[in-house]
Amino acid sequence: MANVNSDLKLLPPPICSRDESAAVPSAPRPLKIGPVEIGFPVVQAALSGYSDWPMRVIARRLGAPYTIAEVLIDRFVLDLKDRARTKHHLRVTDEEHPVGAQLMGSEPKDFGPAATRLVESGFDVIDINFGCPVKSAVGGCRGGYHLSQPETALEIVSRVRDAVPSDVPVTVKMRRGIDDSDESRDRFFEILDGAFERGVAGVTIHGRTVEQKYVGPSNWDFLREVKQHAGERTIIGSGDVFTAEACLDMLCHTGVDGVSVARGAIGNPWIFRQTQDLAAGREPYSPDLAEQARVLKMQFDLCLQIYDERKALAAIRKHAVKFARLHPHPEETRNAFAAAMSRDSWLAVLETAYGSE
Ligand SMILES: Cc1cc2nc3c(=O)[nH]c(=O)nc-3n(C[C@H](O)[C@H](O)[C@H](O)COP(=O)(O)O)c2cc1C
Repeated sequence: MANVNSDLKLLPPPICSRDESAAVPSAPRPLKIGPVEIGFPVVQAALSGYSDWPMRVIARRLGAPYTIAEVLIDRFVLDLKDRARTKHHLRVTDEEHPVGAQLMGSEPKDFGPAATRLVESGFDVIDINFGCPVKSAVGGCRGGYHLSQPETALEIVSRVRDAVPSDVPVTVKMRRGIDDSDESRDRFFEILDGAFERGVAGVTIHGRTVEQKYVGPSNWDFLREVKQHAGERTIIGSGDVFTAEACLDMLCHTGVDGVSVARGAIGNPWIFRQTQDLAAGREPYSPDLAEQARVLKMQFDLCLQIYDERKALAAIRKHAVKFARLHPHPEETRNAFAAAMSRDSWLAVLETAYGSE
């Protein structure tokens, strides 16, 4: 297939709305995903092993306008029983809306029924994963593997779009290709355009290739090129947004409609509020130790609502060691959290390190 973008002339970067010389910085445009109003266009990414119900609730309570659950394998969703151990994957509570679920799989036929089950569980948006670079996903013909086979990828999109009600938006998450070859680039645009033709409401693009995994930067110039290609169609950018400044820089540099925060939100659920502050010309909110402890305790309590104590500890430990980066003694605090093996010892670390009750 011809390079669909070979004659695309790159326009200069869009005019930044964040003009430091301006007295009142203009606000970024609100984000919409199909009929779903998101609002401030900086959202929380799907994060396998992290964006469980507690993390999503915390993000929403602290200012994230939209979150996506951890990726789920379609067969796993179809086989899920109403057992305490796993049913939390389908848990959606009122305060979470709008919230997205994400599906990954190999067989197009399994996607539709799995998407239906997620909608019935209360998720507002169904996102399809064509980006996961981990060996087990790519080796199992899932995730990023689909970037090598546009026909199958687009069949998956059609299956999901046909299965879920028309007012539930379907979105796609892609990396910028399998690798840096021209063929990979052509397939990327074939899938992007084909997905929009089949009715997706938006596409999130991580500016790294599958082969690249996490080595080297996310290519924001590519995101800019894709947004120019997409015109009015909704594009959300991903990759290397660790601070409020970076979120606004991505909007400015690339012109994307939204920013998906991934690693930058682990241990800093205030990043959404900080970005909103910065965009409004305010000093970004900086949580003091008491606020950090309050939020950590709140997240632990949420974990205890859905996991047994052992699993709750394992879940909160992963987050707490990242929260520790904001502590004046990060290493000491991180090590103390990592060593806490019971609920009481974890709470004791919180009290000693943060001075909470
Ligand atoms: C621990 C971890 C888990 C992730 N899980 C998912 C996932 O379930 N679904 C997905 O589409 N992307 C997933 N990603 C990719 C991120 O959403 C994001 O695209 C990527 O990390 C680049 O953004 P960043 O550089 O700002 O972290 C994950 C990334 C990390 C680090």
